[in-house]
Amino acid sequence: MKLPLDSQSRILAFETSCDDTSVALLDGEGLVLALKSANQDQVHRPFGGVVPEIASRAHLSLILELAESCLEAGHCQWKDVTAIVTTNRPGLVGSLLVGVVTAKTLAQILGIPLLGVNHLEGHLQSGNLRDSLWSPPKEFRNPSVALLVSGGHTQIILCTESTNTILGGTRDDAAGEAWDKFAKMLDLGFPGGPKVDQAALDGDPNAFAFPRAMMAGDSLEMSFSGLKSSAHRWISELRQESDWQKHIPNLCASFQQAVTDVLLAKLDLAVKRHKVTSVLIAGGVSANSFLRSQAQSWALSRGLCLVLPPLRYCTDNAAMIGLAGIRRLNRGEISHLGLVASPNSMPTDFVVQDFT
Ligand code: KG4
Ligand code: ZN
Repeated sequence: MKLPLDSQSRILAFETSCDDTSVALLDGEGLVLALKSANQDQVHRPFGGVVPEIASRAHLSLILELAESCLEAGHCQWKDVTAIVTTNRPGLVGSLLVGVVTAKTLAQILGIPLLGVNHLEGHLQSGNLRDSLWSPPKEFRNPSVALLVSGGHTQIILCTESTNTILGGTRDDAAGEAWDKFAKMLDLGFPGGPKVDQAALDGDPNAFAFPRAMMAGDSLEMSFSGLKSSAHRWISELRQESDWQKHIPNLCASFQQAVTDVLLAKLDLAVKRHKVTSVLIAGGVSANSFLRSQAQSWALSRGLCLVLPPLRYCTDNAAMIGLAGIRRLNRGEISHLGLVASPNSMPTDFVVQDFT
């Protein structure tokens, strides 16, 4: 493999860490040539959440078909692929294994390098992706601060070209998990985040006074479990009314306002403390329309360069994994065939600042 990778190189990337099966083809400069994803919402919906074994089986049946359709869309053949990148951590191990074993086997057959990357590093790269419709603002500069909000993680991270330092995060539920559990309390169905987003459009964000935890002082820690309990109490009380559903828009709007207030207050604190001018909001929850509009107003008022990736790069996708891989391949990193799938990040993936 010739380094640095260039516009002639073709990187095939896999993402199977949870319940989205995704394959992407990028050129060596990070331009996304094709992205094919299949969510498994329909198969998990009857269970109200992701069932790990069903997710693994679905990945297995989808991954090669998506890879072939990606190559076709990118006008590329198997022999043209330069390297294969796959998420190998953190996530559901059975799901990760499908991507890892597929990537290993293809790399071996094609005689090309293989690289396993961290899923969260992928989310952090989602702001740098480029395709025929989108490219990030040129003013974006590292060091920057990222708010990573997904179903499993809620962290504030200081990003430089070579290191990602976790400055703070949630002590309990991830923001996406809070959105999903709140949706469940309201019987809104699966997946919950987008349903709450939708229902909140007709609601008043000040109708219910949900708590905002850990706002005093200058800590970058967060907690969403108190909010969940408060929501549970409100909803149980309102359910006594026969037409309780009429409260759903106001409940959803007030819930989103409470979580967004916490997320943006912490982000503001981190930006001031580290004197950065560039900010990224990434991860599935960054698709939320209310969070996006509030974040835009905040960034404008503070004169910041804010990157909110387009929706296709917010939720889990293989394009972000491809880009994280390209940066590492260019540094000479490759994985050996003993690459494992792990539920956790590796200790060397992030610098963790003691925020307790
Ligand atoms: O990054 P992601 O696709 O998977 C993980 O790495 O966890 O994030 C999934 C999370 C879920 O909790 C989902 O409900 C949430 O992102 N999500 C949203 C929206 N779209 C996805 N939450 C709020 N509003 C949305 N529009
Ligand atoms: Zn994710």
